[in-house]
Amino acid sequence: MAEPMATQDRANSVEEFPCPDSAYATEIIAVEHYTPRLFRFRVTRPPSFRFRSGEFVMIGLPGEKPVWRAYSIASPSWDDALEFYSIKVADGPLTEYLQKIQIGDALWFRKKPTGTLVLDALLPGKRLWMISTGTGFAPFAALVRDPEAYEKFEEIIITHTCRDLAELTYSKQVMASLADDPLVGESAGRVRLIASTTREESALMGRVTKLLESGRVYEEFDLPPLNAAQDRVMICGSMAMLKDVRGLVESLGFDEGANSKPGQFVVERAFVD
Ligand code: A2P
Repeated sequence: MAEPMATQDRANSVEEFPCPDSAYATEIIAVEHYTPRLFRFRVTRPPSFRFRSGEFVMIGLPGEKPVWRAYSIASPSWDDALEFYSIKVADGPLTEYLQKIQIGDALWFRKKPTGTLVLDALLPGKRLWMISTGTGFAPFAALVRDPEAYEKFEEIIITHTCRDLAELTYSKQVMASLADDPLVGESAGRVRLIASTTREESALMGRVTKLLESGRVYEEFDLPPLNAAQDRVMICGSMAMLKDVRGLVESLGFDEGANSKPGQFVVERAFVD
């Protein structure tokens, strides 16, 4: 197996490896590390690239045979750069190298965005719940900054559950930026983040499934229990989390939606390796 390329070599590899026609070549313009497991980065946006907030693309590092992995775009569709929020896996086929990227490095992403965590896949409703764990917050970071979410829903509730408090830094940062956001700043009072931890002591502890089943979330945040008539739900997290939260909302009578047939909830895996 070939030795991993040093960052500088990768930056220079743009000429060595021509970007396939099916992908865009972009450049890293910002990188921020939060914990040994989590970081975010921003890349230049190709002018012709269009997507809907909540969708994902396949990204890869330049190379002869790039490893492509699905990443939710964490920036809204109107932003002039593209943001991604990623886990770091020590021997992850992509993240082992991706976690070492630096400003100026090249990144490729496939031209076709896709995904079900889009507003179009939901029927009209009053309150939108976005339920996430870990890097599953990424698509919601895009949607919560999209004015369309506030046109379609009166209130937005985002739940984000992580192992410890440091892993909630990104979601808290995104939420704190909303008040000054030029497009959604006026609506920032209509969105709430319910953040919980499972392994470190914090004000709200427990998996979201447990917090919903016990009713604690409704009591503490003065919310009516999930109700398929007026609430809509988007779910993003690990496979196990999706299974459990899907089971929970289905038991409450929610029907799954898709682009072709909008429904009361939609699900997407947070793509980690
Ligand atoms: P826990 O600490 O009890 O495993 P990870 O970092 O492993 O992706 O997990 C992110 C968060 O998702 C953790 O707080 C974890 O809780 C929680 N989680 C893991 N599995 C489930 C599940 N099946 N349902 C709800 N939450 C889950």
